Parts: sequence; structure tokens; C-alpha cells
Amino acid sequence: MQVARGRAELDKILSSQKFHGRSRGFVPTMGALHDGHLSLVHVAKAHAERVCASLFINPKQFGPTEDLANYPRTEEDDLAKFEAAGVDLVYIPSAEGMYPEGYATLVDVGPVARPLDGASRPAFFGGIATVVTKLFMRVKPDVAVFGEKDYQQLLVIRRLVQDLDLGVKIVGAPIIREDDGLAMSSRNRYLTPPERRIAGELNQIMRKVCERIRGSVPVEAALIQGMQEMDQVGLRPVDYFELRSSDDLAPMPDRVLRKDEIATARLFAAVMLGRTRLIDNMAVAV
Ligand code: PAJ
Repeated sequence: MQVARGRAELDKILSSQKFHGRSRGFVPTMGALHDGHLSLVHVAKAHAERVCASLFINPKQFGPTEDLANYPRTEEDDLAKFEAAGVDLVYIPSAEGMYPEGYATLVDVGPVARPLDGASRPAFFGGIATVVTKLFMRVKPDVAVFGEKDYQQLLVIRRLVQDLDLGVKIVGAPIIREDDGLAMSSRNRYLTPPERRIAGELNQIMRKVCERIRGSVPVEAALIQGMQEMDQVGLRPVDYFELRSSDDLAPMPDRVLRKDEIATARLFAAVMLGRTRLIDNMAVAV
């Protein structure tokens, strides 16, 4: 496995015999790797002959009060995990290299970036679309893999690639979970042991809400009951708990859903547990 930090180094490796003329898969990450990230590497390997991953904690996607300074940094461990998963090249740009003095351009993807995480974190998707565009220009992948854990991010990237003719095939990969249903996340390591025991409840409650919606409980009643259940176990405050279309995040009606509506509906949640913000999403249909 090779590691590139500078752009010249990256270009040299990408034009070497090993990469030349080979299809290229790409898995961008912010590190603190877990099995969710590594599952994306396996998907990328199934789609391309060579796999490149990146490690970059992108300052532009953190708000002023968010955890940029404390975001876990575990580079040595991450490199060992990428190597064991069969990554060919890891790109580790520096913040100064990515955003040198005078850097000004921000990519705004529009409506799909507005609700959910875009509403509570205004700088978030602009920062993500910007860094992913830059990483794509530098790494020049044929295919890039993104997790459904960040479902809105996946839709934002699909829109971005289509609108700016980036020519990268975007593949979505399923959410990898712990045994109790908690979606794996780099931020789970912030949870205290008692919080960690509560965290799995989020997924259990969401499953019940989906079951009730499938069983003809009106959407609003099912969401309110779910939020009460979250409150009871200490999952609070709720940032959002909403049902939207899997295709474009359009809101779903508050009433009992028809079969065709159930087929596209997706439940999205973001909730605080102590100082950690948990997010999860799932399709209502089984
Ligand atoms: P990060 O949070 O490190 O996630 C990197 C990739 O791993 C994303 O595509 C994310 O959806 C995926 N992922 C995280 N947890 C997962 C899980 N439990 N199951 C499946 N996939 C999972 O997302 C980012 O970084 C950044 O926004 C980035 C795209 C790198 C741009 O800075």
C-alpha cells in the first residue's frame, strides 16, 4: 500500500505502472476507521481494479461550535486497517494544501442539501460538496463509494456529480451496525459506557416506528410516539425525526401511507445522547 501526502506525490503514483490503465475506485473518509468504512473498501474493490482511499478531516464541513478540534485522529491505526482491507493507495492531504491562503470557492448543491442535517448544520453540505469535488479532481476515480449511513450526503454527491459532469460513478453501500443495531460511527467512541448502552435504542425505536407506519398508523402519530420513546430512554433533545422520500428527500404526508408511498419512504433521525450527536436512517419498507 502506498501513501501520498502531496499532490505531486499523488500524481506520480497515479501515473505509475500500477495504476495506469486500471479502473480506479475511491473511498473518501475522515479516518477513525471502523468496519463501516472498511465495508466501503470491499465494495470499491468489487467495482474497480485499484482502490484509493483518503484520510482528511475537512475543516469546511465543521461549524464553529462543532467537534473539529476533538475529532478523533488515529492515522497509524487507520493506515494498518486500510492496508489489511486491500487499499492500494491512501491520499492524506493537508488542510493548507487543500485550502491555501486566498481559497474562496464553495460548491452549493441546492435543495437536497437544505433539510435534515443541512438545516441544523448550515455549513455542512457546502463543505462536503467542495471537498469531494476537489478530491475527485485530484484522485480522478471511475467509481466512488459512499455509505447510506449518511444518506443525505449520498444524495448530495449524486446531484453534484450529475450537475457538474464529474463523470464518477457513485455507488451507495449499506449501513454497517453493531450487534444492538447502533450504526457504526467514528463519533461512537465519545459515548460513555452507560450512553453506549442507551445508543442502541435509537435503532430499535426507529424499527418500531417503521413497523407502525407499515401497519397503517398515521405518520405523525407514529413519529410522536417514537419521539416519546426516545425521550423516555434519554435520547434527547431530538434534532430531527422525519419521514422523507428516499429519492429526493421530499416530505411525506402526515396521514396513513399508501403502499407506493411506503415503498419510497425513509425515516431519518438525529438526536443528542449526552454530548454526542447520533444519526441514523432506514427505509420504511422491509
Ligand atoms: P466519514 O464520516 O469518515 O465517512 C466516510 C464514509 O464512510 C462515508 O461515505 C460514510 O457514509 C461511510 N460510513 C460511515 N459509517 C458507516 C457505516 N456504519 N456503514 C456504512 N458506511 C459508513 O462522510 C465523511 O467522512 C465525509 O463527509 C467525507 C465524505 C469524507 C467528506 O469529507
